[in-house]
Amino acid sequence: MSDKRRIVAFSGSLRADSYNTAALRAAMALAPKDCEIELLDISQLPLYNQELDGDAAPSLVRELAAKVADADAILFATPEYNYSIPGVLKNAIDWLSRQQPQPFADKPAAIMSASMGLLGGARAQYHLRQIMICLNVHFINKPEVMIAHAHQKFDNAGQLQDADTQEFIELLITSLMAWSRRLNP
Ligand SMILES: Cc1cc2nc3c(=O)[nH]c(=O)nc-3n(C[C@H](O)[C@H](O)[C@H](O)COP(=O)(O)O)c2cc1C
Repeated sequence: MSDKRRIVAFSGSLRADSYNTAALRAAMALAPKDCEIELLDISQLPLYNQELDGDAAPSLVRELAAKVADADAILFATPEYNYSIPGVLKNAIDWLSRQQPQPFADKPAAIMSASMGLLGGARAQYHLRQIMICLNVHFINKPEVMIAHAHQKFDNAGQLQDADTQEFIELLITSLMAWSRRLNP
């Protein structure tokens, strides 16, 4: 029997040449055959406004929430903006968090971050973990994939060239798959 696992992915950066989105593309290429990763497009979500929520919520919110609810696991790749996660990612989380049933509840998840700085977005990772406690997401702890000096690890076409980073991303995906199977055999 096939046990294909479906992962939905969020990038915290909307820019076309984003290192974080490039890291997600690398994860898609490195993922084992029994794992499918879909990158969700959060770029068209409006800014959260509670008056637009509930029955009036944009159809995109319901579509994204359904994809998260159907997924076996969640993968985030986020930049660090001013020591935290970017507003676009928080905005997407806030929209989806109000859907019922709450789509993130009980989901296994993993995080990567990429930054041109020395710490590779570490502080944003810990903020994201804190936010997702509220939504009862279960993150794997290791490996911690913090891609420092990202501009030296991807080429101009956004292809990941660094062998160690490739290995870490591969291990992150296989660890997430294993965690997903432990939580939902
Ligand atoms: C508003 C803003 C705030 C930033 N703050 C940080 C920061 O706190 N720490 C850090 O390492 N990099 C910071 N950066 C640099 C980002 O890490 C860098 O732009 C990175 O390439 C963004 O990710 P992306 O390539 O996926 O878009 C900041 C960039 C912006 C635009």
